[in-house]
Amino acid sequence: MTDDKAMGCPAHAGAGGCPVSPQAAAFDPFAPAYLANPAEALKWSREQEPVFYSPQLGYWVVSRYDDVKAVFRDNVTFSPSIALERVVPPSAVAIETLKRYNYAMNRTLVNEDEPAHMERRRALMDHFLPANLAEHEDMIRRLTREKVDAFIDSGRADLVEAMFWEIPLTVALHFLGVPKEDMETLKEFSVAHTVNTWGKPTPDEQLKVADTVGRFWQFSGQVLDRMRRQPDGTGWMHYAIRKNAEIPDIVTDSYLHSMMMAIIVAGHETTSLASANALKLLLSNRLVWDRICKDPALIPNAVEECLRLDGSVVAWRRQATRECEISGVTIPKDAKLLIVSASANHDPRHFENGDFLDIYRDSAVEHLTFGYGSHQCMGKNFARLEMRIFIEELARRLPHMRLVEDQQYDYLPSLAFHGPDKLFVEWDPASNPERADASLAASSISFPVGAPSSKEIARSVRIAAIEDAAQGIKLLRLEDPDGLPLPAWTPGAHIDLVLGDFTRKYSLCGDPSASNYTVAVLREAEGRGGSAFVHTRLAPGMVVRMRGPKNYFRLGDAADQHVLIAGGIGITPIVAMADRLKALGRNYVVHYAGRARDHMAFVDRLVADHGASLVLHVSSEGRRADLASIIASASEGARIHACGPQRMLDELGRLCADLPEGRYTCEAFSSDEGLAQADDTGFAVELADSDLTLSVAAGQTLLQAVRAAGIDVPSDCEEGLCGSCEVRVLDGEIDHRDKVLSSAERAQGDRMMACCSRSAGARLRLAL
Ligand code: HEM
Ligand code: FES
Repeated sequence: MTDDKAMGCPAHAGAGGCPVSPQAAAFDPFAPAYLANPAEALKWSREQEPVFYSPQLGYWVVSRYDDVKAVFRDNVTFSPSIALERVVPPSAVAIETLKRYNYAMNRTLVNEDEPAHMERRRALMDHFLPANLAEHEDMIRRLTREKVDAFIDSGRADLVEAMFWEIPLTVALHFLGVPKEDMETLKEFSVAHTVNTWGKPTPDEQLKVADTVGRFWQFSGQVLDRMRRQPDGTGWMHYAIRKNAEIPDIVTDSYLHSMMMAIIVAGHETTSLASANALKLLLSNRLVWDRICKDPALIPNAVEECLRLDGSVVAWRRQATRECEISGVTIPKDAKLLIVSASANHDPRHFENGDFLDIYRDSAVEHLTFGYGSHQCMGKNFARLEMRIFIEELARRLPHMRLVEDQQYDYLPSLAFHGPDKLFVEWDPASNPERADASLAASSISFPVGAPSSKEIARSVRIAAIEDAAQGIKLLRLEDPDGLPLPAWTPGAHIDLVLGDFTRKYSLCGDPSASNYTVAVLREAEGRGGSAFVHTRLAPGMVVRMRGPKNYFRLGDAADQHVLIAGGIGITPIVAMADRLKALGRNYVVHYAGRARDHMAFVDRLVADHGASLVLHVSSEGRRADLASIIASASEGARIHACGPQRMLDELGRLCADLPEGRYTCEAFSSDEGLAQADDTGFAVELADSDLTLSVAAGQTLLQAVRAAGIDVPSDCEEGLCGSCEVRVLDGEIDHRDKVLSSAERAQGDRMMACCSRSAGARLRLAL
């Protein structure tokens, strides 16, 4: 905190008055309202002043998603060196006290600059890779079960005290290879370190905190000395000790001692608080909790959504190494920045309905709670593993648990960490499900380590009705089993129906404002079984699983003419688009081609609603669609949208090849290209933001290789159809295999789909 509270914005001092707004001047990150809900407290900033100088803190505050991510990404312009600096400068007595303990906390990983940081991170990364974390699952599960056993018959517990504090600490110590110590002392040390670094202790508290931190420093040194005497010890710190002997200039002595202290906090307090936040959030949304209890497959994405909406690290710090600009605001050299990830995670510019808990949100994993780029949390998959097990065990064994009403939540005054100090829950032990079925206590499901794939995110829907829409076409109406409205959608959106072992995409074709969904399914004689399943096995009242809605086929901006072209069952997204264009009063024409009227769905409705703008091309009536003349007759600025059989889309693709970017869009529902080809070779990929070079093997996708290195890239279809795995390419020639990019976009050579496209040469450089 700055001593000079009257100080204005340093960049503009003297330039005709300081532009610090009243809200910026009043910003206090230790005010109770901010500590309880930083995202809500910074809503005004996201809306009006996304980058502002806080005179009270002496920092520039950054609150929007794109800006926070950009600062995380550029760790050369924005040095992490102040990440562990004390927010409140220590008093003279506190400094004296720390000196007595030879306190010399210095660079670890999180506050180390390049190139030292990346050399060290690479040398120490192995233990954190997803493939090496699965072995910890049994231990986490055993500890969780023991804790739950201890309180399950009591009917009431403070989950923080009963499990969330101790299990992550025990697990972290085990992972580090540190012998289990007195937990109460470690708790005292941990809290003192947090208050010392990110808190606002009063002068009296400073003295006490300094003494405890001094003892923590001394204790860390002693543990390290003991560990050095066991050259074959297991765990990450033992590994680091051996690396220290092997490469002392990279894994330095000073690093070892500082990290020993920092990692105990980094490894457990973050996870304890995140678990408490998650349970509080889920239990406050009873319906969501009930769904998780019924369908534990939802847990991995629910964890991401909780980390997004109410994470345990709410802000991080960086220092500008040169004068630069963020969202048009000039940031002076040496300025300190508070990048508020909690606020970024609620930014509606990135997350639709950003303030709402949606455990089906497939972009939840894009939250910034673990940071981003080359410093991104190394322990993120460890934390995910623990949180998933906690929730899975509690949901299975105590589904009837509820929050104790009217409890007061207190939050530690901290610039970075956030979570309630207590979380009281209660339940009726007589209703514990395992009293009726003892096997429940030990049954469990485990999840693959790493970020959840959106393939795993599915909601249950009930089939409300099935009707015939035309010959061989059934109309399915789907509704929420609990009668809740399904999320709103936009024309062009589709859902994925999970049908037994396979998944099929169907465009939504009903009323976007209705609370239920309508899809039309054509029985395909030559299909892969999905349509036959729908036609023969589904019946009203059945509950099926679906993903989405998602929209990769948007109408886009207004044009002087909109040309919609549908072939056969491809009419489904086009109907909703036509309705929307009519409602907007735009100039549009619908071309609908099919072999015979009785095989074409929605003809009567289209004639009634869009008669003047509808052109039917019915082959059996001698009116085949002439695609070349349809395109030739479109106005010069027309936007063309098409959906239909692949051969129609191929022809349209050729006819529209020379149109400017964005003028022709089509929707493909399956990929006919062999995504993997027999002569595929391996290639190298440099990840510029993470400062890593990886090898992508011949039989591996780029997406798989990047994920194996612990870097999260969202994905959905994994067959080049949806665009969710797009990555930016900085250098190298791309072998495009997707159906998303237009030929003009391909020609630019600056982006690719990681799930299917490869390098055409030996090396690619990506902005990841
Ligand atoms: C770094 C958050 C759990 C180890 C970080 C950073 C954040 C963070 C915000 C800085 C990122 C950046 O500068 O871009 C969290 C949260 C956790 C968690 C919210 C739990 C929910 C863990 C665990 C471990 C761990 C369990 C270890 C077992 C680390 C390490 C770094 C780090 C070693 C430094 C990485 C580097 O600078 O290269 N974490 N963390 N974290 N975290 Fe975590
Ligand atoms: Fe859909 Fe890659 S995941 S295009």
